[in-house]
Parts: sequence; C-alpha cells; structure tokens
Amino acid sequence: MSALTVEPVARLVGHLAVPGDKSVSHRAVLIGAICEGETRISGFGRSADTEATIAAVRALGVEVYEHGEETLRVFGKGLGGLSSPGRAIDCANAGTLVRLICGILAGQVGETFELAGDESLSRRPMERVAEPLRRMGASIQTTEGHLPLRIEGRGLNGVDYVLPVASAQVKSALLLAGLYADGSTTVVEPVPTRDHTERMLQAAGASVTVHPTSATVRPAERLSLGEVEVPGDFSSAAPFVVAATLVPGSELHIHGVNLNPRRTGLLVVLERMGANVNVYNRRPIGGEPGGDLEIHAAPLVGTTVGANEVPLAIDELPLFALAAASARGRSVLRGAEELRAKETDRIEATVDALRAMGVRARGTDDGFDVTGVPARIRGGRISSRGDHRLAMLGAVAGLASREGVRIDDADAVGVSFPGFFQMLDQLRRTSAVVEDDRR
Ligand code: S3P
Repeated sequence: MSALTVEPVARLVGHLAVPGDKSVSHRAVLIGAICEGETRISGFGRSADTEATIAAVRALGVEVYEHGEETLRVFGKGLGGLSSPGRAIDCANAGTLVRLICGILAGQVGETFELAGDESLSRRPMERVAEPLRRMGASIQTTEGHLPLRIEGRGLNGVDYVLPVASAQVKSALLLAGLYADGSTTVVEPVPTRDHTERMLQAAGASVTVHPTSATVRPAERLSLGEVEVPGDFSSAAPFVVAATLVPGSELHIHGVNLNPRRTGLLVVLERMGANVNVYNRRPIGGEPGGDLEIHAAPLVGTTVGANEVPLAIDELPLFALAAASARGRSVLRGAEELRAKETDRIEATVDALRAMGVRARGTDDGFDVTGVPARIRGGRISSRGDHRLAMLGAVAGLASREGVRIDDADAVGVSFPGFFQMLDQLRRTSAVVEDDRR
C-alpha cells in the first residue's frame, strides 16, 4: 500500500517506448499454450496480470522459458493437451486471463479445473462467459456468478451467440471454445470490440471469418504461431498522450504503439476535443496495425462520448474524464455501464478522484458529466483503490495540476505497467534538461 506524490511539471518533452500490449501478451501465451511446438514471443508486456498468465499455463503443464524481461518461448501442448494441476489456478487480478482460459479449458476432455482470483477479480461477473459456454455443451459452475469456478472439459458444439454486453473477453472465450466444437461458432457483437483474438487465431492457422459485427471460427485440428512480436500497449501510452496534451508546451513522441482502431477510441475523442496528435511511421507490428505518436499540448473543448465509442476506449475512459476536466465546457459519457464491472467501479472511482482534485464531476448510471475549466486542475489526494488505471489517472493529474497529486496505493500500476513511475521520472528529468537548454 505505497503512497506517492506526483508533482506538477512545466512541460513534457522527449521520446518513449511503452511495454508490450497486455491484451496481446495474454493471448500470445494462452494461444501459444495450445499450439504445436514452440512459440517465440518478443516485446512481451511483463506485468502482474501477464505473469499470472504465464503461471497459469505452467500449472497446466506448458513449459515457458523466459529470456530477459521481454522474450518468452512457450512450448505448446497442442489443442487438447493441457492437464489439470489438481489445485486451483490463481488468476490473480487478471480478467482477461480468467475469461479467455475458460474457453480453452472447457474443451480439455476428461480434465477438471478450478479457477480462483484475488478479491477484486472475485467480485467481477463470470456468468457472462459461463452461460454462453454452457450453450456450447460446457460443464462450468460459478460460485453465485463469481469465482471460484469449476470446469469439466468435454466435447463442445458450435453456437451462434449474440453478445448481450460488448465484451472482447467474452467474445474471445467463445471463439477459443469454438476451436474445440463440432461445428462453426459465430459471435455477433452489437458494437465492435478489440479483435486481437481473431487476428492471432488467423495467424496460428485457424479458420476465422471476420465481419464488421461478427466473427466465426471453425473447429481446428492444429495451431502453430511461430513468432509473435508484441506491439507497445496503447493503454500504457494513453496516460502519456493525455499528460502531453494537458501540460502546456509539451512535445512527446511515443514509438511502436499498437494502433488497432478497436483500441484507439481515445485518440478519436481527444482529436474531437482539439488535441494535437499526429500518427507517423504507420507499419504492421506483430499482426496489429502499429505506428508512432507525436503529441503537442493543445487547448481542449468538451465533448460527448456515447455507447458506440465506449468499447473502443473502454480502459481509457477515466483518462477521458481527466482531459474533460481541463477542457472548455461540459463533457458527457453515456452507455458506459460496463465501467462498473471493471477492477473497481470505475464510474464511481473516477468521479470521486476528480472531485478530490477540485473538479466538478457527477456520476450517472451509465457514465459521468464533467464541467471543465480550461486551466490546470488544483490537485489533491486520491486513492487508486487497487486499480492500476486509477493510479495512472492520478499520476497524469499530478503532472498537469497546480499543486500535485498524492496517490494512495500507487503501486497498483504493477498490474499492467510496473515501470510506469520510473518512466515518468525519466521523462520528467529529460524534460527538465530540455527546459534548461531553452533558457
Ligand atoms: C480486454 C477486454 C476489455 C478490457 C480489458 C482487456 C481484453 O474487457 O477492459 O482490459 O484483453 O480482451 P471486456 O471484454 O470485459 O470489456
């Protein structure tokens, strides 16, 4: 439970590269575990969440060799080769791990598995994956809709399923289970969500057909990934994008970022607010659309974000609230009730944090309203509540504030970005050097 104060900064100037994409890293290890032979993963985004995924596949009998921080070799057991560890698999805080692995374990015929997690994960809904998997013939019991959860692997049948909530995790669980089914499985999503699973399964040789609002997978006989290069995580770049936008005089470059359009909704929203973000060196990175970002500080105006944009910016919506706090006029978020089912209730936690820093904000059932003032926010003291995204929100707020922000439980950042504060300190130092040079 560490507390840390982030002081205001005069400007942010420099070049950064953020760690590997968490969503892609989880998938590379999980899909690597059911491939034939070796999968070599470079640029792996190491964090508490992705470490939990490595530990989970090891518990299932998969060998994973680690070469330094960012390179892994995963020796897959083939589609049906995972074996029960005879004890609960600890998914820690990782929603992506627990949801996706359900789809894989449901198809391990003759094996029984138990999944558990930390206090926050144990509060999050699991029937959203269990219920559609049961329609595929899976045997899966939750504890009143939550962890711990028990799965008996068995033969599955394909389904057509319309997602009731826009969730890439649920979609992915069903597509992974579809690899084991005896017919095709189609997942229809009312609003498009991130498509990393579809891309990686295609790269592994599975038959996946993608339409704008649905994906269909056919049963697979064998998968093979070979090499996976993980691009930088847009969600880890986003705090720096917002910080450089808000701190006057800033000019920041972030290199090698995953710019999959189903992840970069925040950029679209910020641009509508007047932000100055330029994408250059567009190039594919590991099967994802990537590129470099150049951000210059800019004055913002308020905007409205609705349900169609929510999945494209789901993890960045707290940062949208912070950007809105320094924008001219009112900003509104609606159709985002999913935020209440994250690591914390992120509507409540974001609004409470903003208010504690002197911002006028109000929560609604499915979003928030923020009344912005085009100036630095005051600052103050917030708690991350153990949520990594909230801790990063506090840090960005501190940089762009007048008085700094004290963050309780700041080391929650380790869930997705353990080096976050070091990177921020480094950036503060290089920015100060540039500041001196300009004098
Ligand atoms: C993720 C999907 C999203 C996102 C999470 C990562 C993924 O969750 O919030 O951080 O990797 O598929 P939902 O699918 O629950 O919206």
